[in-house]
Amino acid sequence: MSEMAHLKGVVLCGGLGKRLEPLTRITNKHLLPVYNRPMVFYPIHTLVEAGIKDIMLVTGGNNAGDFLRLIGNGSEFGLRHINYTYQRGEGGIAEALGLTEHFVDRSRVVVILGDNIIGGSIKRYVERFRRQENGARVLVKKVDDPGRFGVAEIKNGRIISIEEKPKHPRSDFIVTGFYMYDYKVFEIIKTLRPSGRGELEITDVNNAYLKRNELYYDCLDCWWTDCGLPETLYRATALMRKKLLRENKA
Ligand code: DAU
Repeated sequence: MSEMAHLKGVVLCGGLGKRLEPLTRITNKHLLPVYNRPMVFYPIHTLVEAGIKDIMLVTGGNNAGDFLRLIGNGSEFGLRHINYTYQRGEGGIAEALGLTEHFVDRSRVVVILGDNIIGGSIKRYVERFRRQENGARVLVKKVDDPGRFGVAEIKNGRIISIEEKPKHPRSDFIVTGFYMYDYKVFEIIKTLRPSGRGELEITDVNNAYLKRNELYYDCLDCWWTDCGLPETLYRATALMRKKLLRENKA
């Protein structure tokens, strides 16, 4: 139980954001605005709100220095320090996570994709992961366009398959960009081979846990969106504006 107490957090902001061209031609996707904050502020806040204060941010591309200028040591989020590392190129989400091995060490880790925005808290799910003996935990959500994501087939309260961007999705439930892993994740990443799109896929990591019978999930109970397309970036702004106005924080 001793190593279970300490959870580390990772925010992934690598990749080139090509689907947002020309917005991403001269800056990193995660620095673009979502309503009144840069996108990356939201996943950092989500981790801190869930009680995770030991955080590493993975960035990449030509604008890595801008993250340092924007976020500094993280004091705006109540942090005393924040760690950074750099991903060269666009080798995939699992590759980006692999770069944090020395930071996570033998702890457990909560990972958030830098373009995943939610309307609530993940605290409750993180607490369940803390109590989980081993393995991984993912957060799923029902969506209208599952074929763009990692699609989870669920039977009798267990995920039985995950397929990355399938042509014929087997369900409307997708695996969101919130992942919780035990220390085995880095051994699993080392066994991966690049997919058809030339990336180390996080879906392959999740399927490796599935094979071991160590993949658990929760259904996210608040709104969720990615910001990878002009349409979803716009949606994130609209949803966040509504939330902040309701909370008198706009
Ligand atoms: O948003 C959830 C979806 O994210 C999942 O359902 C999919 O299973 C997962 O593969 C991913 O799908 P996308 O194709 O939409 O991911 P994308 O390439 O847009 O990358 C999402 C974030 O991951 C990006 O904002 C930053 C980080 N990333 C991505 C790549 C490719 C990196 O840090 N490094 C990378 O090389």
